[in-house]
This record gives sequence, C-alpha cells and structure tokens, in this order.
Amino acid sequence: MLSYRHQFHAGNVSDVFKHALLCRLLLALGRKDKPYFVLDTHAGLGLYDLQHDWSEKTGEWRKGIARVFGRSDAPEALRPYLDAVRAENPDGNLRFYPGSPRITRRLMRDNDRLALCELNRDDCAALQAAMHGARHTAIHNQDGFTSIKGFLPPRERRGLTFIDSAFDEADEFGRVLRTVKEAHSRFATGMIAVWYPLMAPSAMAAFARSVQAAGLPKTLQLELNVHGEHFTEHIRGSGLLVINPPYGLDEEAPPLLDWLWRALSPDGEGGVRCEWLVRE
Ligand SMILES: C[S@@+](CC[C@H](N)C(=O)[O-])C[C@H]1O[C@@H](n2cnc3c(N)ncnc32)[C@H](O)[C@@H]1O
Repeated sequence: MLSYRHQFHAGNVSDVFKHALLCRLLLALGRKDKPYFVLDTHAGLGLYDLQHDWSEKTGEWRKGIARVFGRSDAPEALRPYLDAVRAENPDGNLRFYPGSPRITRRLMRDNDRLALCELNRDDCAALQAAMHGARHTAIHNQDGFTSIKGFLPPRERRGLTFIDSAFDEADEFGRVLRTVKEAHSRFATGMIAVWYPLMAPSAMAAFARSVQAAGLPKTLQLELNVHGEHFTEHIRGSGLLVINPPYGLDEEAPPLLDWLWRALSPDGEGGVRCEWLVRE
C-alpha cells in the first residue's frame, strides 16, 4: 500500500541530513572526468512547495531546513547543499525545497546520467514536471526495489545507487538490505547510499549486525539524532549507510554532521555517529 507522501516531510531534519551527505557523494563522483550514473530508487516529487497544506500541517520543515537556510556560518562542505536549496529560492525567502532528483541533477555534469523511480502515480507526474527538460534524466513510474535488475550495472561502470525508501512497511530494514545486496552483486564497485530511520536501540543493533553479516565491502554508517532516548513521537533520527564510500568521507562527515546537529538540536539532545560498519 502506498500511503506515504513525502510532501508532509519535505525539508525536515532527515532531508537536510540525507541531502547534505548526498551532495558530498556526488561531488566525489565528479572528481574524475569519466561520466557516472545515478539510480534514485525512491525519487519523490523532485520539488516541494513548503506553503502546501500538507507541509504546513506537520511544520516539519520549520525544524529542518528553516534552521539552516539563512545561516552564513555553515562549513564549506555544506555549501553545495545550501546553494542547491537557495537556487530554488532566488529571492532569499524559503518557500521551495528541492528533493533528491533536483539536487542530484544540479550537481551532475551534462554527460552524467540519472534514472529516477517513483511508484506513486501522482507523485511521479509531479516529478516529471519538476524534471522537465533535465539532461540525460529518465523517469520511471515503477518499483524502485525491483528496478535494480534493469539498471545495474550501468554502462558507465561508475556511479551511485541511492535508496531512500519510505519505511512504511513491515520488515523494511530486511527489504532494504536485500536490495543493497542485489545492487552490490550486480555492480560491485558502485557506491550505494541507503537512508534509514533510527528506531529502538535494540532494532538498530540488529540491523547493524545484519549489515555486517551481508558480505558487503567497506561500509560507513552515518547518523544524526536530534532527540533524546525518551523521544517516542516520531523517528528519533536518521541514518545513512554508504557502501564503497568516497575516499575521505569518514573525515569529512563528522564536522559537517556536528555542525548540523548543533543547528538542528536546539536542546542539545541526541548526537551524531560516523563509524565503519565494515572496514573490509
Ligand atoms: C522518502 S520519499 C523519497 C524522497 C526523495 N528521495 C528525496 O530525497 O527527495 C519515498 C518515496 O518513495 C515512493 N515509493 C514508495 N514505495 C516505492 C517503491 N516501491 N518504489 C519506488 N518508489 C516508492 C513514495 O511515494 C515516496 O515518494
């Protein structure tokens, strides 16, 4: 069942976290001249109007992007992400928030290729409109999990699979991990980034063990949590697994995440993590 709609959540703390890191992965891929390929398995709408009723209803963006949009003291590593959001709001007033497809296309070069999957038909139509005219960009109204088979390995033999599932089904951690294993078996040198929500500590420890037992290469685990242990209203925070991470991400990410944590956790709750789950 497709009940999840990202319009309610666009620009929230999780989006800021995952998109800031996504920019670092894309910039690393762009360091070499050879073109690369990105598969975004759960693409969403591509662009969100934060004045939409659903965004106003949850107000999640006010605790996310609104807290960093106007900051002039962000670290250099965050600049490409903030520039991507500011480019959607040229008058300096925060109203539009770019999703992963628009952020990704902005950081890609002309010859790099992007494939976007979005299963919800209405959201996919919005995505088509948001990506209209984008170069080398294909949009598919299809299941992102099963799309792996058709898209990997890419002819470029370099690239990123970005798996940003809605986590609205039972055993989503299991499904995501099976997808990661399949992506890796088809495209062993490819980078894979997987977003996940922070649940109860015991569930997260079980997930970490299953990742470690999956036979994956180097895997970096990045997390940002802006709530304390007692928080039960919503997810406590976000994680991103990066398989085959770019060189230096383990040193670049901690100060970036630390700055975000200070900006997004006014009560000083939670914290950040940057650890090798698999060192190889
Ligand atoms: C968390 S949102 C994606 C946000 C987007 N990646 C971004 O960063 O801007 C998850 C999206 O996946 C879509 N979706 C749910 N199940 C899917 C599936 N099996 N395949 C592809 N898309 C799916 C939902 O409709 C939703 O738009």
